[in-house]
Amino acid sequence: MNWQILNLSMTMKNNLKRIVITGGAGFIGSNLSRKLLKEGAEKILIIDDLSTGKIKNIEDLMKLDEIEFIESRVEDVENLNKTLSNFDFCFHLAAGVGVQYIMENVSKALLTNIEATHLMIEACKVNNLPILITSTSEVYGVSNDKVWTEETKSLIGPPTKLRWSYAASKLIDEFLVLSEFNDGNLNPIVVRLFNIIGPNQVSDFGMVVPKFIKAALNGDELIVHGSGEQTRSFTWVQDVIEYFYLLANKKLYGEIFNIGQTEEISINNLAKLVVELTESNSKITYLPHEEVYGSKFEDPMRRTPSIDKIVNATGYSPTMEIPDMIREIIKYKKTNP
Ligand SMILES: NC(=O)c1ccc[n+]([C@@H]2O[C@H](COP(=O)([O-])OP(=O)(O)OC[C@H]3O[C@@H](n4cnc5c(N)ncnc54)[C@H](O)[C@@H]3O)[C@@H](O)[C@H]2O)c1
Repeated sequence: MNWQILNLSMTMKNNLKRIVITGGAGFIGSNLSRKLLKEGAEKILIIDDLSTGKIKNIEDLMKLDEIEFIESRVEDVENLNKTLSNFDFCFHLAAGVGVQYIMENVSKALLTNIEATHLMIEACKVNNLPILITSTSEVYGVSNDKVWTEETKSLIGPPTKLRWSYAASKLIDEFLVLSEFNDGNLNPIVVRLFNIIGPNQVSDFGMVVPKFIKAALNGDELIVHGSGEQTRSFTWVQDVIEYFYLLANKKLYGEIFNIGQTEEISINNLAKLVVELTESNSKITYLPHEEVYGSKFEDPMRRTPSIDKIVNATGYSPTMEIPDMIREIIKYKKTNP
């Protein structure tokens, strides 16, 4: 039992009864749906085109009266403004996601991230619906600041390094919602997510933890991109959705919040940890970034958030450390390959 979650949830009035989740068949969105149902949601409308999401993430939920699923791109939903009438809150998660997916679908992902968000903003404005948008740690680029606060300057690379298109599109999303807030037209919350992991995250789009675990369980090589000395921090998906729930209920509009963990691990040590915890004989090998993604790629050496702002605002701190998260995911993947 997580007493921190229990205490916070018990003392908080839940205003989230009728909710829209775009990207709700995805990794984070499907976990969010489950949390909101547990907290008494009366209706959840999921809009998802299943481009990276999976129907199996929500198959059991679709049988419930509370769930309505529209299989479509946000951009193609007929009369989006009317579809979004009579809701309390919108979580906008639909986006082109994952380094590999972005590098293979640069213009498609860019347009989705900007167009879909713009349409959602207009529909939320018409319906007076608050919206939480999911931005990313990528917006900090290769900033040299030791710890990244929400005010740290963005240092993304040149447009010739197409990797930064994802960061640029998410920054545009942030500007779009914050300018509407400034004009008094919209109640947005911006979260910047730092490498979120959890059991049902898939390995198909370049996410390092599910890729390593899959390789180790299959006895395949774990391929480290670059030197492996780059460090990352990983955050448990249940902590993320707890933050979403608290931020939305506390109505912390017009603010940006980092969501992440401050504990860092190098990709080398992550690979070793996965091999150890899976008791695998897999070898760890190395590939230069250029060989994987070509010359249009560069990678930050560190990526660590300051989470003071969100911890102070919500009273909630992340609950899981890296080895425990990896153990939980391995346990899940062994029974759900
Ligand atoms: N997972 C992370 O570490 C991480 C880090 C930073 C930001 N984010 C952001 O969090 C959000 C959720 O990411 P996730 O990890 O759950 O990824 P995901 O790929 O599992 O979820 C994204 C969902 O959006 C759907 N989708 C994509 N384009 C769409 C469109 N045009 N219309 C309707 N649906 C569409 C996909 O099918 C998928 O189900 C994304 O906005 C992502 O940018 C995630």
